[in-house]
Amino acid sequence: IVIVIIAVVLGLTLRQNKSEFESTFLSGCEKFNQYDCKKLWGVFQQAYVDKDPCKVPVEAYDPLIAAAPFKPQCNKTMFWSKTKDVVHGFTEKRKDCFVTLEDTLLGSVLDGLTWCGKEGSNDTFTSGCPGWSECENNPVRSFWICASAAFADVACGDVTAMLNGSINTPFNPTSIFASVEVPRFNASRVKKLNVVVVIQKNNISNCNHSSLKNLTQALDTGITYGCKDVSESRIQECGAKPEIACGACW
Ligand code: APR
Repeated sequence: IVIVIIAVVLGLTLRQNKSEFESTFLSGCEKFNQYDCKKLWGVFQQAYVDKDPCKVPVEAYDPLIAAAPFKPQCNKTMFWSKTKDVVHGFTEKRKDCFVTLEDTLLGSVLDGLTWCGKEGSNDTFTSGCPGWSECENNPVRSFWICASAAFADVACGDVTAMLNGSINTPFNPTSIFASVEVPRFNASRVKKLNVVVVIQKNNISNCNHSSLKNLTQALDTGITYGCKDVSESRIQECGAKPEIACGACW
């Protein structure tokens, strides 16, 4: 009887999580009032429900991306690696200058969330899901790889990437930026990559770092490369002062 009670309580908790996750998805989606959010939720769920949470391939999210495609925003696309807080603190105030994946509908709705399904169930679970590196084909990791690839596919004109000058390897081959996004920059669409290395007080890297040489070598021939060391305080100043022109931030 104890086991039955535990099972029922656990079942109810997981159900509640499900509806809470669905409401989070819908309310995040509705802020964009441009899409049929209930339909998107249905398409999203199809990617992972009733599946082993370690067997959700990247392509499972293709229908979702097709239902809410990324609009090309030439000269405004912003990529980043290990600079999440700085970059989003900036782009949330200067939407006139740059757009990150997490400023788009799908990116903003799912940023920071964990979800997975389970074989034999149509529910969405938010606990007991595999961690980012626990298995390769987990629902969260596959979503971010699929979305990042699609976001990089539509990048055009001058694109920007904010990298971190306070770590050993600002351009890390295992990052999504290096492994998924850079390889998809296409010279027929992308003219130039402007790297911004965010410099904090105790920086250990800058534009001269050897890993950035690998970045220039990974770029499609025909894409110009530029790099600037920019202090975190200057980025914050540009975020706080809308009168500074986007092109004059750094
Ligand atoms: N555990 C959990 N989440 C992770 C992990 C991990 N080990 N690694 C990456 N992520 C997810 C998190 O959501 C994290 O905020 O990817 C995000 C970015 O990770 P970083 O290592 O900082 O950077 P990178 O892997 O280069 O990805 C950033 O991908 O999200 C897109 O367009 C975006 O250009 C950006 C790039």
